Amino acid sequence: MAFNLLKGKRGIIFGALNEDSIAWKVAERAFAEGARFTLTNAPIAMRMGEINKLSEACNAPIIPADATSLEELENLIDKSVEALGGKIDFILHSIGMSPNIRKGKEYGDLNYDWYLKTLDVSALSFHKIMHVAEKKDALNEYASIVGLSYIAAQRIFPDYTDMADAKATLESIARGYGARLARLKKARVNTISQSPTMTTAGKGIAGFGAFYDFADKMSPLGNASADECADYVIVMFSDMTKKVTMQNLLHDGGFSASGMTPEVMNIFENNLK
Ligand SMILES: NC(=O)c1ccc[n+]([C@@H]2O[C@H](COP(=O)([O-])OP(=O)(O)OC[C@H]3O[C@@H](n4cnc5c(N)ncnc54)[C@H](O)[C@@H]3O)[C@@H](O)[C@H]2O)c1
Repeated sequence: MAFNLLKGKRGIIFGALNEDSIAWKVAERAFAEGARFTLTNAPIAMRMGEINKLSEACNAPIIPADATSLEELENLIDKSVEALGGKIDFILHSIGMSPNIRKGKEYGDLNYDWYLKTLDVSALSFHKIMHVAEKKDALNEYASIVGLSYIAAQRIFPDYTDMADAKATLESIARGYGARLARLKKARVNTISQSPTMTTAGKGIAGFGAFYDFADKMSPLGNASADECADYVIVMFSDMTKKVTMQNLLHDGGFSASGMTPEVMNIFENNLK
């Protein structure tokens, strides 16, 4: 069901790689809610070509940009404003990548060049996008900017290594830039901390199936799906949340507030018998 929540709004959506991507679901939902937007991803991710399907379905131009490159972000913002015929009302940052996780490096054995890459791709890119949008005066008043985070920013989970540090930085940037853009543009900046989700980035974490099942059993409402995450992002882009800013919003079925659930107790009780 659609409610025209984004009618007349213009946006930029980063990070739709394939149909599993959270950004893909956000794009479909934003289109259904009446938004017009550009799609962007790193040029290397475009080679798989899957984004073309989404572009056709949502009538959304594709503008490649490596989110770590200020030059490519400048081009993206200019071309987006041009293609959409005006300033931007919403931006989704749905980007994450750690070379250390890809190569199975432990936290005590990180490659520091890769560590910097993780931080640049997964966190500093959020700052760079807002920096370029500000300098180009490309945002409309009451714009809404959302980044996607994970609870490993606050708590330690096995094998999430330097991505945990990147997510903590991402959430801090939402506060820092949120305060700035509120003054300049009455704009909102938030992160949504999402349940484990079966996507390319998610499945890249060692033992992801166990992460996923544990979170599901520890969440009274169960894990939030990518489609449900998209619904939340749309509400945050809409005019219904104009005073919500500088927050890390937990979208996790109650995981973060649960100490123990009957489902997890059952597993331990059965194992101890
Ligand atoms: N999947 C999960 O369990 C989960 C849970 C919480 C938060 N998140 C976050 O959600 C966001 C989206 O991830 P996803 O799960 O949809 O996986 P995904 O793999 O579909 O998306 C990650 C995207 O990041 C893009 N990317 C990587 N390097 C880039 C660069 N230099 N420039 C531009 N784009 C680049 C990839 O091409 C890809 O499209 C990430 O920030 C991720 O950390 C995911």
